[in-house]
Amino acid sequence: MKIDILTLFPNMFEGFLNESIIKRAIELGKVSVTLHNFRDFSLDAHSKVDDTPYGGGAGMVLMCQPIFDCLDSIKTPDSLVIMLTPEGEVFTQQKATSLALKKHLIFICGHYEGFDERIKSACDMFISIGDYVLTGGELPSMVISDAIIRLIPGVIDNESLETESFTNNLLDYPTYTKPRVFRDMEVPSVLLSGNHEEIRKWREAEQLKKTKELRSDLLED
Ligand code: ADE
Repeated sequence: MKIDILTLFPNMFEGFLNESIIKRAIELGKVSVTLHNFRDFSLDAHSKVDDTPYGGGAGMVLMCQPIFDCLDSIKTPDSLVIMLTPEGEVFTQQKATSLALKKHLIFICGHYEGFDERIKSACDMFISIGDYVLTGGELPSMVISDAIIRLIPGVIDNESLETESFTNNLLDYPTYTKPRVFRDMEVPSVLLSGNHEEIRKWREAEQLKKTKELRSDLLED
């Protein structure tokens, strides 16, 4: 998979791309991530990328030209162009699963007051990571890329994906490691029994119990 990210703040991605599982996925060639500073595409003598809104009002608005020209330089027939915006559809595990099947994703990260409305005509999809407003689309693009990259076959082990939260609309079962007793808190005895069938049943029941308690809305879907 190829991911291109259009941003005015490429340095924000340094830790995300150079640590842990995402770093390894890139090294293994499972994904390539390219950052594009669309300021580099500005035709303005001062590399301007934003201007005041027509009709007046607060803040600055991102202009069409740098973003359209940047997109023209990277778009292919396989590309899916995604704008990060609080007005978009809210991101879910289901969306991560469907986006993980795509060949080429392009994320457009806004900053400041917003985008010139005409930029939307160049986008295929609009995604929000929740009902709150951030200073820009950089963190949302990292959140979404992270959720997608870990689903690419070979990035993390398959068993972890099969049992984790939101698979089958259930939260994950509780897990424990050594020691058996910590500050009077004991590991459930079934997990020490060695009986795999009993452990499987216990985990299934715990998943259901936890989902009912914490996220009963998932069971309604
Ligand atoms: N840009 C600013 N806030 C955002 C959000 N919640 N989701 C996606 N993009 C955003």
